Amino acid sequence: MRVFALVLIVPAVFALNTPVVRVTDSLISVPFAKRISAGGVKNFVEADRARARSFVEVGKRKAAVRAAVAAGLPVPDAGAASSVPVTNSLVQYTASVGVGSPASQFNLVVDTGSSNTWVGATKKFVQTSTSVKTKNSVSVTYGSGDFKGTEFTDRVTLSSALVINNQSIGVASSSSGFEGVDGIIGIGPTDLTLDTLSPATNTLIPTVTDNLFTQGAIPSQLVAVSFEPTNSETITNGELTFGGTDSSKFTGSITFVPITSTSPASEFWGINQSVRYGTSTTILSTTAGIVDTGTTLLLLATNAINAYTKANGAVLDNTTGLLRLTTAQFAKLQSLFFTIGGTTFELTANAQAWPRNLNADIGGTANNVYLIVGDLGTDSGEGLDFINGQTFLERFYSVFDTGNKRVGLATTPFTTATTN
Ligand SMILES: *[C@@H]1O[C@H](CO)[C@@H](O)[C@H](O)[C@H]1NC(C)=O
Ligand SMILES: *[C@@H]1O[C@H](CO)[C@@H](O)[C@H](O)[C@H]1NC(C)=O
Ligand SMILES: *[C@@H]1O[C@H](CO)[C@@H](O)[C@H](O)[C@H]1NC(C)=O
Repeated sequence: MRVFALVLIVPAVFALNTPVVRVTDSLISVPFAKRISAGGVKNFVEADRARARSFVEVGKRKAAVRAAVAAGLPVPDAGAASSVPVTNSLVQYTASVGVGSPASQFNLVVDTGSSNTWVGATKKFVQTSTSVKTKNSVSVTYGSGDFKGTEFTDRVTLSSALVINNQSIGVASSSSGFEGVDGIIGIGPTDLTLDTLSPATNTLIPTVTDNLFTQGAIPSQLVAVSFEPTNSETITNGELTFGGTDSSKFTGSITFVPITSTSPASEFWGINQSVRYGTSTTILSTTAGIVDTGTTLLLLATNAINAYTKANGAVLDNTTGLLRLTTAQFAKLQSLFFTIGGTTFELTANAQAWPRNLNADIGGTANNVYLIVGDLGTDSGEGLDFINGQTFLERFYSVFDTGNKRVGLATTPFTTATTN
């Protein structure tokens, strides 16, 4: 068995890269694109916060549904809390995924924060000989969008050598909030698919990671993500690897931690961590939160942000929605230290800055430094007190290990790079 990887190609800002299939060593790769959504620029900080809020709602809802199912009780009414996270973040990582035979290509958001895979938001799904319509409808409500449709099973092709037969996918008949993308490839925990089908409410939908594993295509039921920081409109590469980790993408060893037992973070790729600013200022005592490829920023609970800004002098910038420093303040900015499973990961001052030559892209001005550390919107103690999003994951390799119910993190050649 082999380990398969998808290569993430980071194209020019505001432009979607044309996929080019690439083969590196023994890893079979298909491209991923990173794009900054023009429509998302104004409200992306708020979108990240909305996503955080809906994580809390969804997590609580899923826990309630699981408890009801386990007790043999009817699934409680969804009420207002049936949403799952929004996808209209500033930066989206997308993959070109084939569905059917012959395959149609769909441009899908790669999301570790949700677990349904679906197509048809923009490009229309075409049934082929491998498409089987099921008796189930499917419906997922996101914080600022939704989709409804019919569940099919079909052949899903991630690369010529990475083919899943009989993948259960949603085909949207209507959707909102998905501009410029065709849907989502959901690689969150499988339990998040509970209560998304109807009438098969109690049915879990195996994710692509699950099916690759059960169909014998990969040796371990996990997916690993390598992002890299980018400071210019030139292309850099990242990689999504199914079934194993790519030792060329991280340094040292991977620290694995069990998924946190604290709800609602426990419903996602949740971990316990503490955060310190500089040598001695604890800004967040050990608490639960999540690691998420679909959130742009590194979000910390409000009380942690207050301690952070008190220590470094940052103010909230009215135009971008981000915290802002003068260049003189930035020169004194200290590292943030994340302690996870006994290992401390250092996020340097440079890694806390939005790339300065891209300030204009977020409505900022050249002589300020904008920070990628943002306010989650609630104080700690909610059971989901941080989101280590893309700007964190560009500095640390991450592993989402379904088989062992754990998350892995490691440093990379870019952890301390001065790119911003
Ligand atoms: C196909 O997938 C569906 C849904 O995941 C599952 O119920 C069914 O058993 C699968 N069929 C085969 C032949 O693997
Ligand atoms: C995480 O923190 C919670 C609360 O302190 C604790 O109960 C739990 O044992 C910790 N570890 C895990 C893996 O959840
Ligand atoms: C935001 O900026 C506008 C225009 O510069 C200004 O009028 C307003 O007072 C600012 N608001 C805050 C909260 O700083």
